[in-house]
Amino acid sequence: MKILVTGGAGYIGSITTAELIAAGHTVVVFDNLAQGHAAAVHPAATLVQGSLLDQAAVAALFAAHPACDGIMHFASHTLVGESVQKPLMYFHDNLLAVMHLLEQAVAHGVQRFILSSTANLFDQPEQIPIPETAAIRPGSPYGESKYMLERMLFWMDKIYGLRSVCLRYFNAAGGTPERGEDHAPETHLIPLVLQVALGQREAITVFGNDYPTPDGTCIRDYIHVVDLAQAHILAMEHLDRIGTRQFNVGSGRGFSVLEVIQMVERVTGKPIPYTLGARRMGDPPILVAASDQLQQELNWQPRHSDLEQIVASAWDWHQRNPHGYRG
Ligand SMILES: NC(=O)c1ccc[n+]([C@@H]2O[C@H](COP(=O)([O-])OP(=O)(O)OC[C@H]3O[C@@H](n4cnc5c(N)ncnc54)[C@H](O)[C@@H]3O)[C@@H](O)[C@H]2O)c1
Repeated sequence: MKILVTGGAGYIGSITTAELIAAGHTVVVFDNLAQGHAAAVHPAATLVQGSLLDQAAVAALFAAHPACDGIMHFASHTLVGESVQKPLMYFHDNLLAVMHLLEQAVAHGVQRFILSSTANLFDQPEQIPIPETAAIRPGSPYGESKYMLERMLFWMDKIYGLRSVCLRYFNAAGGTPERGEDHAPETHLIPLVLQVALGQREAITVFGNDYPTPDGTCIRDYIHVVDLAQAHILAMEHLDRIGTRQFNVGSGRGFSVLEVIQMVERVTGKPIPYTLGARRMGDPPILVAASDQLQQELNWQPRHSDLEQIVASAWDWHQRNPHGYRG
């Protein structure tokens, strides 16, 4: 298949691009490089630099690559905390980007779309692990913008027959020997703790230790980025059979912040000092996914999502690339 990957120079998009190429697909990456890195894009992919907010640039992309079999859409503003500070930027940009994409997808008869959705759809869940059928209560403007995109895609199927799978990721983590996580600023726990192990940061701040969890710190479900990439590929390859769907993608196991810190100490052999900070707004105590439907419908399994394997793969990449893609 020929797949358009938006945000394919970013963390999850670049690793999915590499996995798509390894599986024999052809990839066109579209990225404005605001957060992404040209060096992260697999050399066999075609990188087109531009913004999805630029309608003419998106039209030119489809004019140059009219025969795409499907779109994997990763490009987005991605930070819960920032979205509380700048809600209108999140609604405007995250929706407009997809509107421009969908205009062209409809005009060019593209029939398949995979959306990066999020566990932030499930604020204060009633059931843990969170089933796909859980009530949707977005925890931030970021999560709400993703839910709006899910609803847009629902109508695109009804009206134009454009099928989509929305993958609601829990916490993506880990790397491959060639690619890893390099955000500026970095906000994700595992790369931040690894910066302490690398001596680039003195200590890590733990936001709240009075949550109703065994050690008082928040519990999250970490999914290896390669398992996430495989979920995208399976969804794209089987979309015609399964039709428009929404799936949770997680490992089904939760680890507290302190457990992650301990695992990093074990894997790296370095002590990780930490300080205690106040709770952050919008951090639910526990987020763990039930991915049963993804496992049943697509025969997907989280094969690399053991926490030790996740941390070891991230540590390996960060040791080889202590300054990320900047060399
Ligand atoms: N990382 C996680 O744990 C996680 C969890 C849930 C959902 N997600 C979602 O997964 C997707 C990928 O996340 P990531 O961590 O790889 O993020 P990332 O920031 O590394 O990648 C996003 C990429 O999109 C590009 N981009 C952003 N806006 C663009 C625009 N207007 N036009 C063109 N390119 C643009 C950026 O330059 C970047 O390369 C996002 O949609 C995010 O919301 C991520």
